[in-house]
Amino acid sequence: MTTYAVTAASGHLGRLAVEDLLARGEGDVVAIVRDPGKVADLAGRGVTVRAGDYDDPASLAAALQGVDRLLLVSGSEPGKRIAQHTRVVEAAKAAGVQRIAYTSILRADTSGNPLAPDHAGTEEVLAAAGIEFTVLRNSWYLENYTAQLGQYLRTGEIVGSAHEGRVSAASRADYAQAAVAALTAEDPGQVHELAGASFSFPELAAAVTEVTGATVTYRDLTTQEHVQTLQAVGLDAGTAAFVAALDASIAAGDLQTDRTDLVELLGRPATSLTDALRAAHGA
Ligand SMILES: NC(=O)c1ccc[n+]([C@@H]2O[C@H](COP(=O)([O-])OP(=O)(O)OC[C@H]3O[C@@H](n4cnc5c(N)ncnc54)[C@H](OP(=O)(O)O)[C@@H]3O)[C@@H](O)[C@H]2O)c1
Repeated sequence: MTTYAVTAASGHLGRLAVEDLLARGEGDVVAIVRDPGKVADLAGRGVTVRAGDYDDPASLAAALQGVDRLLLVSGSEPGKRIAQHTRVVEAAKAAGVQRIAYTSILRADTSGNPLAPDHAGTEEVLAAAGIEFTVLRNSWYLENYTAQLGQYLRTGEIVGSAHEGRVSAASRADYAQAAVAALTAEDPGQVHELAGASFSFPELAAAVTEVTGATVTYRDLTTQEHVQTLQAVGLDAGTAAFVAALDASIAAGDLQTDRTDLVELLGRPATSLTDALRAAHGA
């Protein structure tokens, strides 16, 4: 029987992937987390929970023993991640892991997105490791927007500096299911550019208006105005510049694609923006 492991299983995406592996009833499932207490419920459902921290090689060596296929969910500290992911890849190699699937970013190798260098660097580490690997180049989460629905409705507007740029976003659940499909497939392919249908921010505002019945409009700013607006609501200068840079990346088209890899891995349509907004509004 194949033993599957998922790192960062206490996070949104990792947990969804563990749930999907359980639902498939395929193989043994190991959840690797920094704090096993966060996923105590999984232990009661047949999942082996092990402690593993990307900053602690010894913990990773122990956590990956006996694992055949690993879903490496990218860490959450930009700038530290190449070193962190390298520790995981090295530990996986030493433990005899046969395949690694890694959650990257859309067009990691050519994207101007500020988060892309960590992912491109990790992809290079994977390619050099000599282990079979699959790269899941995830675009933005729909949840990046649905999580802000309350704020959109309170203020009546979506504020950004993405201009007419389009985002091809998909739900975390769809990305997790696609990751598990690639992890469990016989021949998963090496690079998947994963995304749902694209929308611009004016279209996002129109979709929010349609779903909620409340008028929400998009207010487009220059990058400089965006940074100032974010600082005015309490963000520090570095964070404000980073958030505005993400919108600039959208304006540049870094997070838009027409590729259908996600639908192909899922074997069904991806969750639409409208359905995701409906679910968030009803919740
Ligand atoms: N595509 C997008 O729009 C988008 C948006 C946000 C993030 N991401 C990327 O996708 C990843 C997964 O997304 P998500 O929604 O599941 O994020 P999340 O809910 O914030 O979860 C992040 C996970 O990373 C774990 N983690 C952080 N540092 C770690 C370390 N040193 N060692 C081991 N685990 C560590 C966290 O563990 P703890 O529970 O112990 O903190 C948590 O389980 C993120 O980490 C980030 O790389 C993508």
